[in-house]
This record gives sequence, structure tokens and C-alpha cells, in this order.
Amino acid sequence: MLRTHTCGELRLTHIGQEVTLCGWVQRVRDKGRVLWADLRDRYGLTQLQAEEGISSPEIIAQMRSLGREFVIAATGTVIERISKNPDMPTGDIEIKVSRIEILNAAKTPPFLIEDETDGGDELRMQYRYLDLRRNAVRRNLELRHRLNIETRKYLDGLGFIDVETPVLIKSTPEGARDFVVPSRMNPGEFYALPQSPQTFKQLLMVSGFDRYYQLVKCFRDEDLRADRQPEFTQIDCEMAFVTQTDILQTFEGLTKHLFRVVKGIDLPDFAVMPYSEAMEYYGSDKPDTRFGMRFVNLNALTKGKGFPVFEQAELVVGICAQGAAEYTRKQLDDLTKFVQRPQIGAKGLVYVKYNTDGSLKSSVDKFYNPEDLRTWAEAMQAQPGDLMLILAGEDKATRKQLNELRLEMGSQLGLRPRDQYSVLWVTDFPLLDWDEETQRWHAMHHPFTSPKAEDQALLDTDPGAVRANAYDLVINGVEVGGGSIRIYQRELQEKMLALLGFSPEEARAQFGFLMDAFEYGAPPHGGIAFGFDRLCALMGGVDSIRDFIAFPKNNAGRDVMINSPSPIAPEQLDELHIGLKKG
Ligand code: AMO
Repeated sequence: MLRTHTCGELRLTHIGQEVTLCGWVQRVRDKGRVLWADLRDRYGLTQLQAEEGISSPEIIAQMRSLGREFVIAATGTVIERISKNPDMPTGDIEIKVSRIEILNAAKTPPFLIEDETDGGDELRMQYRYLDLRRNAVRRNLELRHRLNIETRKYLDGLGFIDVETPVLIKSTPEGARDFVVPSRMNPGEFYALPQSPQTFKQLLMVSGFDRYYQLVKCFRDEDLRADRQPEFTQIDCEMAFVTQTDILQTFEGLTKHLFRVVKGIDLPDFAVMPYSEAMEYYGSDKPDTRFGMRFVNLNALTKGKGFPVFEQAELVVGICAQGAAEYTRKQLDDLTKFVQRPQIGAKGLVYVKYNTDGSLKSSVDKFYNPEDLRTWAEAMQAQPGDLMLILAGEDKATRKQLNELRLEMGSQLGLRPRDQYSVLWVTDFPLLDWDEETQRWHAMHHPFTSPKAEDQALLDTDPGAVRANAYDLVINGVEVGGGSIRIYQRELQEKMLALLGFSPEEARAQFGFLMDAFEYGAPPHGGIAFGFDRLCALMGGVDSIRDFIAFPKNNAGRDVMINSPSPIAPEQLDELHIGLKKG
């Protein structure tokens, strides 16, 4: 070893010891007679010290020659600091340096490698290896590591076995586009990268593995957002001979375990909310239940008073923001602008202030008298001091808009603290979703999800009303995981694929292998996949999953550090049988 200790290790108990530390020079402070340098490694920072008249002239000169991010080995004696730094674990001591070896000089980095950096996003991504030296980013990856290890420990303890599934496969529809890879050996043919190992894990159940898991890369060519990357990691699991309750219990257990051992938080038992309830009271299939502000249907109380917007609306629905009656004209205008943004698309916003003196003041006083407003307040359980916010329009769209407004109000009123976690299962999703654009049914989860037994008859008569044995794990309004009990009989799978618009030939070509397998003794089975990056970000209290991925892509799907994707040589294209032929 080039070093005796790490830069995070030394304390008063080490006083008098001769030590050698290795690391990066964070900063040198030259106070004329005394010089200090902060030496950093993964474990912390330690202060080096040299003093004119006491340290040798060579050491003084060497200390002065150190630049930021030089890699050095420094030997010296641990001494007690005169002015201690209580904010640093090593803040009681410093090293009186007797020898410095410069292991490698460094160019001045393009941004400050400190907690508060001056580097913009793009620059930090371009020099991600320098960004990763920063505490905040390193700590995120340490959290990710812990979660990875604890996940493995927990699942291993329950008899799950880690099986690797292939990366060069063929398309599995999970709702996004595939990334494809041309095959040199099979001209004109392509592999697809897995959007998830869905069909493989089901085949493993047919093989009798009983309990499978994998921390696995998945690839989806879709528009990117803060919580989406083109390649991301799942904790992917499957179990045989289980009911939905067994799966929910097992993975509630995993989630509680992770929060307990990694965050020191004991989560209460998870609430279970059917999809229909989530949509009715929150307008979202992933409600943030850290706060209430549930939707109240005001149809019956608002109609027949001549206000055209409400008269024509399929749905009039409101929320009550506690203690927000003091909102100013400007704040209310801003909320109106917020819901009118094209991404949200509401026409307008109606408000009712329930003033602390008990009076009611609304933006629709022309149409509704105080008694009318009082009935709304009662329905919404509003108290003096509260603000009621109401949207109207087509049912589905209005719920979506009010969901956005609810989340915004939650944020504005400080009801969404990052260190508070509200976890729930959303269950009983519809099996199918009608897509207006393509005029087709789509599988809401994926085509392998089973319909509820009691709804199966509806497959022929009213497919939209069929509920699925599907569930999502939602934490603080983030969809952290999703899964289902699967179809395991050929006939039902064929029927499902037909409903989704596959011809029998297409179904056989794409999923024949799975349906064949179902004829060789497929056990009932089901599973779930957690979005591992999302779980990390959530537990780290950060919105963007990029901060928890060592080398992420930017929003255009590019890795700006290695500059990928990039063109390839014509010869390589030729070899892959795509693109222009030479000559
Ligand atoms: P699903 O498609 O719901 O289910 O994915 C499971 C979880 O993966 C996460 N996730 C993502 N995370 C980051 N970037 C993305 N682009 C991205 N897409 C999805 C989400 C999501 O809840 N095979 C099924 C699981 C099953 O049925 O067992 C599946 O993949 O957190």
C-alpha cells in the first residue's frame, strides 16, 4: 500500500503517529509563514501543514508548487490543530508534513470539485469523472451500492436466485420503442435490447426456478425526463405459485427492509388503493399521499345556476388548500396561468376564498351567492382560512389538470417534504387502454398480465371494463415499481394478443416461444420490477435519477463525455449490411 491511512480516518487518538496519506489536493492556502493543503480521497479530507522555519525549505517549496487536483502521497506526523474545525470528522488534527511525493500533476479542472461547484450541468457531464469526485455525487453512488447489496441480501434470504438473462433479444412490448442492434451474421436482421426481461423471467418460472431476481439493465427508446433514462436498472423479480397478496407482501417486505437498514426509517404498513379510487380522489394513478387535498366532485352543487363553464362541463371538481385563503390576487393569477400552460391545458381556474371572518369570496360571485358557496365549502370540508380551487371540463382531462394543480399547491404549501415517505400500492388497474390515435386497445401494463377472473367474461363484451391483476408501488407520487399476475395458459394469451390487434401469425411469430412454453407445464406465476434508479433517487431525496447513475445520458439521449451515439465507418455499416454500399 502507498498509504497507511485514508483521508477520512485520523482523529485525536492518532496524535504523534507517523502516517502516509494519498489523495487529491483540493486546495492550498498560503498564509506566508504557514501553508495548508486539503487532501481529499473517497473517505474524506485531511489538512496538511508546513511552517517556515520548522519544515524544511524543500517541503515549503513543494507545498507551494501543488496545484488543484494534483495526486500526491504525503508523509508526516499527526498533530492537534490549534483552530479545530467541528464540521469536519478529521477537523481536530492535521499532518505536519515531512515528505511529499507528487504521484501525478493535474491540469486545473474546468470546475470546482467541491460541494458547491461552479460547473454547469453540461460541463459536469462532459467531465463526469471529475464530477464523480464531488462528495454529493459520490454519496449518491454509495447509497445505490448499499441498496443493491441490501436488495440482494433480502431476496437471497427468501430463496430468490439471480439468473442473468440475455441482452441481445427480440422485441418485448413494454410500451416504448426498442433499441435495435444489427446482426452481422444474419444480414438484414436485428436484435432488440430488452425493455425488460419479462418473457425470460416467465420462462424461468416454466423451468421451475420458482423465485427469480436480477438487478438488470433495461433499454427503452422513449422521450427522456428527470425520472427516465434510455438505459436504466430494474430490480426484476418473478415468483411461481403465488397470489397477488403474496407478491405485495414479499415486496412490501423488501421496501421496508431497505428503508430500515439504509435510511433508518420504519415504514408503516402500506395502504392499498384501487386504481379507480386513485383516479377519483387524486386524478392520478400515482398519487402523492404525503398530503390530503383530495378531489371533491361538485357536479351536483354547481349546476343549474347559469354559469356556462360549469353547465357545459362533464365534471366540476375541486380541492381545498388549507390555510391558503390569504393568497393574493397575483398568486391566484399565477395559479391560473399555471393550469393554463399548454402542458396542463385547463381553460381557467375558479377559486373560493373562505376568509377567516367566515365570509366567502369567489371568482364566480356573479353566478353563485354565499349560500351556494357555503354548500361547496361543506362538501369540501373547508374551514375559515382555506382556499378552494375548482376546475371544470371533460372528466379525464380535468382530473389530470387538477392533479397537477394539487401537486403544485402541495409544493407551495410545503406539504411534500423530501424526508417524509408515503408509500402505497395501487391495484386493480384496467387491463386495457383505448388509444384514440391508433384506434386500438393497448395493454395498460403489458400483454402478459392476466385479467381478474371475475372480469374475464367481459373480455368479449366490454374489454375496457376488465380489471387486471396488476399493481404499482407508489412512493411520494413516484411510480417506483409495477408488476402483475401473469397469464399462463396458451388460450388466454392468444385471446389477449388478438384483442391487442395481433393477427394469429404475428402473435405466433413474436410470442410463439412463450405460448409453446405454456403448453409444457407452466405454473401460475407473477412478479414485479422496481425502477432501481428511481428508488435510489427517492431515498436520496433528489428528483433526477441521473444523479444516481455513474455515467448517465443527457436529455437528448447523448453521453457527452464519450460523445455517443456517433457515426460509424462505412466499412462497419457494410459489414452490418446496413447503409450505403461502397462504390
Ligand atoms: P414497468 O414497465 O412498469 O414494468 O417498469 C418497472 C419500473 O421500471 C421503472 N422505469 C424506468 N426507470 C427509469 N427510466 C425509464 N425509462 C424507466 N421505465 C420504467 C419504473 C417502473 O415502475 N416487466 C415489467 C415488470 C413486471 O411486470 O414484472 C416492467 O418492466 O419505476
